[in-house]
This record gives sequence, structure tokens and C-alpha cells, in this order.
Amino acid sequence: MKELRKKILYPREVIDQRVKELADAISHDLEGKEVVLIGVLKGAFIFLADLARHLKISHSVDFTRLASYGSGLVSSGNITVTKDIETDIEGKEVIIVEDIIDTGITMAFLRERLEKRRPASIRICTLIDKKHRREIAIDADYVGFAVDEGFIVGYGLDFDEKFRCLPDIYVIEE
Ligand code: PRP
Repeated sequence: MKELRKKILYPREVIDQRVKELADAISHDLEGKEVVLIGVLKGAFIFLADLARHLKISHSVDFTRLASYGSGLVSSGNITVTKDIETDIEGKEVIIVEDIIDTGITMAFLRERLEKRRPASIRICTLIDKKHRREIAIDADYVGFAVDEGFIVGYGLDFDEKFRCLPDIYVIEE
């Protein structure tokens, strides 16, 4: 198979600094509250691990996994939950941690699903925000990097399950 060409978009030092800044903002906003981080598998596992270790407030961690069937590279809207959270989030401050928001379909689905469990609040934290690609209006409260163009890999993000564990963030070159 032909090797994909990719170039670094955000090196690991820049990512680390930005993740620290996000953790500081969350720590400031939610000090003294009962906080649950909910990572969306698989893409968010590396980001969540770093974010959680930079937080200065006490919190718990849980994960969910959603699958979207249909068109392949973009969400189809047919979303199913393949792994639910195990935490009772009623009355708690929830932070959904995502690697990327693209069309917004996945996040809108998840937020609506979690709202039914009556948390005190739901905030959204995404490493990458591709806002211009939105099909559903949804805003993140904490954004690592706003990206306009290109297919992003590394630091949790994959292309066909490859490149997830690269420490830097890359954009695939056409
Ligand atoms: C990615 C990402 C989001 C979703 C965003 O997941 O982690 O969950 O797509 O797309 P949307 O805003 O268009 O709905 P993916 O399906 O690639 O799974 P993965 O996290 O396991 O790689």
C-alpha cells in the first residue's frame, strides 16, 4: 500500500502546553464541584489521559463508545452506543472529552443522551474543533485547536486505525 504523506500540524510541546491551559481553565471553572470526565472512545483516550493528569481538581473518569454507520469518513447520523458510561451522573458536573468535533452529529447525540440522566451541567471539551464542517449547531466550551482543513491524525486520531499513538498531530497531505 502506498505510504500516506503527512506533515506536522501541532508538535507535542505545543499540544502539551495547550492541554495544560485547558486543564487550568476547567480547574478554575469547576473547583469544589463533583466532576466527571467522560471520554469518547477511541479517539479521546490519549487526550483525556493527559488532560486528567493536568487537572488540579478532584474528578472521576468514565468512557463511552459510539459507532456511526454509513458513509465511512463522516458521521451518518445513524449512531449506536456500543459502550455506555457506568457512572451515575445525576447532579454532577459532566465534561465530555472528545478528540474531534466535525459535523457535530456524534456530540449532539451524546449530549442529548446524557442530559436525560439529569447531570448538574454538561460541558464539552474537544481537542480539535472543525467548526466550519458543522451540520448540527453545537459549540464546545473548551477547544484545543480550531482547524479548518485537512484530515487530522495522531494524538488519538486515526486514519483506518493507523497513527493514533503518534505523539504529535499531523495533517494528511493530498
Ligand atoms: C470521531 C470522533 C467523534 C466523531 C466526530 O470518531 O472521535 O466521535 O468522529 O464526528 P462528527 O462530529 O462528524 O459526528 P470516529 O467515528 O472516528 O471513532 P474513533 O474515535 O474510534 O476513531
